[in-house]
Amino acid sequence: MKKITIAIDGFSSTGKSTLAKQLAKHLGYAYVDTGAMYRAVTYYAMEEGYIDDNHFDEKALVNNLSNINLRFVFNADLGFAEMYLNGQNVEKVIRTLAVSSKVSRVAAVSAVRAKLVEQQQQMGANKGVVMDGRDIGTVVFPDAELKLYMTASAQTRAQRRYDELIAKGDKVTYEEVLKNVQERDSIDSTRADSPLVKADDAIAIDNSELTIQEQFDKVLTLVASVT
Ligand code: DC
Repeated sequence: MKKITIAIDGFSSTGKSTLAKQLAKHLGYAYVDTGAMYRAVTYYAMEEGYIDDNHFDEKALVNNLSNINLRFVFNADLGFAEMYLNGQNVEKVIRTLAVSSKVSRVAAVSAVRAKLVEQQQQMGANKGVVMDGRDIGTVVFPDAELKLYMTASAQTRAQRRYDELIAKGDKVTYEEVLKNVQERDSIDSTRADSPLVKADDAIAIDNSELTIQEQFDKVLTLVASVT
């Protein structure tokens, strides 16, 4: 079977990473979670004091982009790669609501996108990769052999994210999470640079009513049709 590039785009909490991890494992492909890269840059900006709830010193972040080193390190126990920022494992902290509530503002900065897109293109240069994000099928790999565009209602997605955060011990309310999901949907799809849009040749999958297994089976059929 020839190796291909699989691009998975969609709003937050549409189950992109669950599907991407399943596919990568099944096919023996690398999995790249591009959202983790935007989250790690956001965490860096928070730690440096460039961004908080009320202010964002975009210029300071852009001037210091060369000081940000991002690396995925495979964790065999977990079965997937974890995000390292300047040598520190930030996999857990980048998933908190504090980071989620700022990441869309950071991801709207063109210089940040240019840096991360270049790294993503290098990571996928040899194919055999499943990459998820917002602009993978439109900007990062417009020639990907298989492009999926995942959707689900905001309420379904907020409930999933809320359940995940509660399971991790975070103290959040469903209303807070829903508000964050809706705000990110709005910023991610209306920003000037690489807004979230469905690529013309992407296949839309609404998984509000699909089980994880049903979704996986459906996508495997699609993979088989292009390999
Ligand atoms: O997939 P996620 O929720 O972890 O992504 C976090 C944020 O990063 C999301 O709000 C939008 C941004 N993002 C992006 O702009 N482009 C990508 N390829 C991936 C994520």
